[in-house]
Amino acid sequence: MTWPDIRHTYDTVAEEYANTFADELAGKPFDRELLDAFAESVVQPVLGPVLGPVIDVGCGPAGHVTRYLADRGVRIEGIDLSPVVVGEARRRHPDLRFWVGDLRELPADDQALSGIVAFYSVVHLPRAQWPGAFAEFRRTLVPGGRLLVGVHGGAGESGVDGWFGRDVSIRTTFVSLDELTEMVAGTGLTVLERHQRPPYPGEYPSPRLYLLAERR
Ligand SMILES: C[S@@+](CC[C@H](N)C(=O)[O-])C[C@H]1O[C@@H](n2cnc3c(N)ncnc32)[C@H](O)[C@@H]1O
Repeated sequence: MTWPDIRHTYDTVAEEYANTFADELAGKPFDRELLDAFAESVVQPVLGPVLGPVIDVGCGPAGHVTRYLADRGVRIEGIDLSPVVVGEARRRHPDLRFWVGDLRELPADDQALSGIVAFYSVVHLPRAQWPGAFAEFRRTLVPGGRLLVGVHGGAGESGVDGWFGRDVSIRTTFVSLDELTEMVAGTGLTVLERHQRPPYPGEYPSPRLYLLAERR
């Protein structure tokens, strides 16, 4: 399968994509619960050492997950491969910080982050690149730091050519919960929770997989 230039794809559809997904968390109680628990685990005490920020990797143009966690007291910034996505996220949330960056090579020092949330961004990498991405997450997490990842369940890869009515393509990798667990645990991160839920009405019809891990 040929993998498209995903930066170009999201550059092209950023605005339509944001309009479509900006309010999606309102209809996803399970995801909100996971994010609430994640927020509680990475919020820093007012009196205590100042740890690194949390990064929303592949934050997307709506920046809604970044917003959701920021509103729950998380010191969070968003990173995305697409400059147009980052511009759109900044426009929608001028009080938050968004940066252009690649999740395979995070602009962060070793052990600099207290958390990483990665919802549906790793999915756009070919399967062979997933272990390297998770190793990069582990590198940048401080001991005690948490990773919350969300991906599509299934097997193989699939693609759409002509997305949002534009002449661009996406490719998506699907994995099983065991495969995801093995890849994350294989980096040395400790897997704390694994979840699978059916798709909500209106979502792409794949089972949704979520994994919470910690750097010990
Ligand atoms: C399906 S969207 C998910 C957006 C958001 N996380 C959400 O849950 O709605 C995937 C996002 O990942 C970004 N992305 C894809 N590959 C990336 C990479 N290698 N590094 C950083 N961002 C990437 C895309 O530009 C896009 O904004």
